[in-house]
Amino acid sequence: MQINVSSLSGLPDAARQIITHAATNKIFVFYGEMGAGKTTLIKELAAALGVSEAVTSPTFSIVNEYVIPSGKVYHFDFYRLKTQSEALDMGYEEYFYSGNYCFIEWPEKIPDLLPAHYTRIAITALSDNQRQLEVENI
Ligand SMILES: Nc1ncnc2c1ncn2[C@@H]1O[C@H](COP(=O)(O)OP(=O)(O)OP(=O)(O)O)[C@@H](O)[C@H]1O
Ligand SMILES: [Mg+2]
Repeated sequence: MQINVSSLSGLPDAARQIITHAATNKIFVFYGEMGAGKTTLIKELAAALGVSEAVTSPTFSIVNEYVIPSGKVYHFDFYRLKTQSEALDMGYEEYFYSGNYCFIEWPEKIPDLLPAHYTRIAITALSDNQRQLEVENI
């Protein structure tokens, strides 16, 4: 599925479409250059799932955890990862296989650790405010 978002105000609707398209998938991986809008979209997805706190990039911790009515949301940013073994060290499996929602920025850093099934989102910036979102269930 492809979604064209023409401004930030289009993100809540895009987030709802993505969650519907993902069906039973709860793991979402986000590809896109720096500043493409991964964190910004994740904020909207989290809000759509019922996160009421402010969602910020997990810069210092690799993973941030949020509570939603049905469980938890884990938000990963693997940008600073040097090796995949650092993901093993932080116990990524406990999160990925917990049954909770997982939103993963920079999945390129953990190519061998992605689960069998997930929803892949590729974000391309078309202009300052326009984004193309390619959404695919793997
Ligand atoms: N339609 C849009 N969707 C997403 N972001 C948008 C959109 N229009 C403008 N932006 C802006 O683009 C920027 C995206 O930054 P964001 O931190 O989300 O990128 P990122 O992909 O997470 O980068 P990084 O790889 O550094 O983590 C924000 O300043 C956001 O306000
Ligand atoms: Mg980000």
